[in-house]
Amino acid sequence: VKGGFATFMDKEIHDQPQAVADTLLGRAGTDGRLQLDEMRIRESVLRTVDKIVVIACGTAAYAGHVAKYAIEHWCRIPVEVELAHEFRYRDPVVSEKTLVVAVSQSGETMDTIMAVRHAREQGAKVLAIVNTHGSTIARESDAVLYTHAGPEIAVASTKAFLAQITACYLLGLYLAQLRGNKFADEIAEDLAQLRAMPEKIQRVVDNEEHVRAVARSMKDEPTVLFLGRHVGFPVALEGALKLKELAYIHAEGFAAGELKHGPIALVEEGQPVFVIVPSPRGRDALHAKVISNIQEIRARGAHTMVIAEDGDEAVVPYADEIFRIPQTPTLLAPLVSVVPLQIFAAALATAKGLDVDQPRNLAKSVTVE
Ligand code: F6R
Repeated sequence: VKGGFATFMDKEIHDQPQAVADTLLGRAGTDGRLQLDEMRIRESVLRTVDKIVVIACGTAAYAGHVAKYAIEHWCRIPVEVELAHEFRYRDPVVSEKTLVVAVSQSGETMDTIMAVRHAREQGAKVLAIVNTHGSTIARESDAVLYTHAGPEIAVASTKAFLAQITACYLLGLYLAQLRGNKFADEIAEDLAQLRAMPEKIQRVVDNEEHVRAVARSMKDEPTVLFLGRHVGFPVALEGALKLKELAYIHAEGFAAGELKHGPIALVEEGQPVFVIVPSPRGRDALHAKVISNIQEIRARGAHTMVIAEDGDEAVVPYADEIFRIPQTPTLLAPLVSVVPLQIFAAALATAKGLDVDQPRNLAKSVTVE
């Protein structure tokens, strides 16, 4: 069942190129026009949507954070991301012009179900991005975009996360097409970039031994920090969550720009810090800013573990470890940059002799509020 892997989590990390490829499959014609056939919300309604609210919990909410960057950039629609359990209890502003996107692997997370119901009561249209066919969230939503990650057995989510991000990109491109934010050739180009991702993810998975060796050497660390910026920020949060869940190590993710506003006080000699470095080929100055963050923490003794693109030599002087990812358009980078963090958490938990597939106190689907 585990396909020759020691744990389901290892298997599911290796399943990720396929999960992304399958989620993309059959969704777009060769002419670049997107077909999301599970879309049962009228196109006229989607053209007038003036706000998107993504509701989800845990890892699925981090997929929503990534979606916000992509959808706002591509579609110029404001996107909010909210934890489902917070959304419902704060009297959120939603209307008939709000598209609520509920993201869930299981489709059975009670907090998310209740938020879906609340949104529909307020007149919003709900689109579900779920992995489990026929699940409650799929049934109760106005439209469904299934992720095709296959069954996820390990309690901590991996391949479902990548598939959720992929589905969010498809939704963003679909809306951009429908609302005229992008020309057909731009959509075709974006889709080509997306279709190139499974092979890039595979390359990161193939380099797992380096990450594993570093993880084994860190099994007695009491705390690990994660820094990221732009789409690297939710990746940092996800890396920290994986480490808490699997290895029971205190871990925190921060937006790199926030460092000087507080978290840098935590950095002392030997503090391990993962830094997710944006592409040096990106349009803005974010790469240089994150490099200077690495310099700042290293000057204070941090042990820097840097996730950086192939060919990014600027990180070399300040990195104690470099985990390479293939060159990727900025918005798509989470699909590759999160993979070393998943491998790290799983390998560290294994080195501690823990049950990677079934961490203590956690359930695969949380069916109580
Ligand atoms: C983390 C994890 C959880 C789930 C969350 C939502 O590894 O698995 O944070 O992402 O409980 O679950 P779903 O996606 O089933 O709604």
